[in-house]
Amino acid sequence: MDDERLESHVKRAQELIGNDTKEVPAFWINKYKKEAAKNWDMFYRRNTTKFFKDRHWTNREFEDLAYQEGQSKVCLEVGCGVGNFVFPALIENPGLFIYACDFSKRAVDMVKDNEHYDESRCKAFVCDLTQDSLTDNIPAESLDLVSAIFVFSAIPPEKFAFAIQNIFKVLKPGGAVLFRDYGLYDEAQLKFSAASDKKLESNLYVRQDGTMSYFFSLEDLQSRFEAEGFKTLKNEYIYRETTNRRLELNVDRIFAQAKFQKPLA
Ligand SMILES: C[S@@+](CC[C@H](N)C(=O)[O-])C[C@H]1O[C@@H](n2cnc3c(N)ncnc32)[C@H](O)[C@@H]1O
Repeated sequence: MDDERLESHVKRAQELIGNDTKEVPAFWINKYKKEAAKNWDMFYRRNTTKFFKDRHWTNREFEDLAYQEGQSKVCLEVGCGVGNFVFPALIENPGLFIYACDFSKRAVDMVKDNEHYDESRCKAFVCDLTQDSLTDNIPAESLDLVSAIFVFSAIPPEKFAFAIQNIFKVLKPGGAVLFRDYGLYDEAQLKFSAASDKKLESNLYVRQDGTMSYFFSLEDLQSRFEAEGFKTLKNEYIYRETTNRRLELNVDRIFAQAKFQKPLA
């Protein structure tokens, strides 16, 4: 996005967000937060494996993932859904083993039912990242990488600290979190604000189906990982212009992409 276009996008975003002042009653906010796992499980009952596209861009965006001759790595994908990250990564990177967890049992069962699920290279299990210890399924300090692809946005911000600490414990010293999620002022946030009855808290919204979506500024993201002991190696906005063919519209997407390292010492 060029500077002029970005400036006008940010201005429009700030106006829309500033005008979105209607409050969702506390009862409903608590209910969405309490029933997050149930709402995602129902999402997978409705959509099965048909909603998200396979993510074939991860080797390009995260060079740590890309296979190098003779190298083996162990990764955990948190909030794996039905495996749209996991299976392309396993196919493209022969030296990779992936643990995959999600708090939707239905999603985890779909991962296990995938024709490419091979227990010698993958272990899928149910886990709520915000309350269940990952060390119940993964040895402490054993992972090279953790991928967090559009999962933290589904978590209420007061639970980020527990989730980040949980990840910290299973990473090796020197291991890294590969993060990609919705960025502040992404078009999806503007759509929520325009609807004006979806905002639960600052930058946190609820979809029609009860699942939540948070939007990250780089400062917010960095401070949350650094507060739990991580070092920031990369932290940037990714701008993508996508076309909605049905509505014949060009849409400005903004993602936050980062790499956080568990210090060596
Ligand atoms: C947008 S999907 C992304 C799926 C996958 N990472 C991908 O790239 O296709 C978000 C996933 O996070 C899961 N999730 C949300 N909160 C979670 C939590 N507290 N613990 C574990 N999984 C969670 C949801 O069930 C859902 O499958």
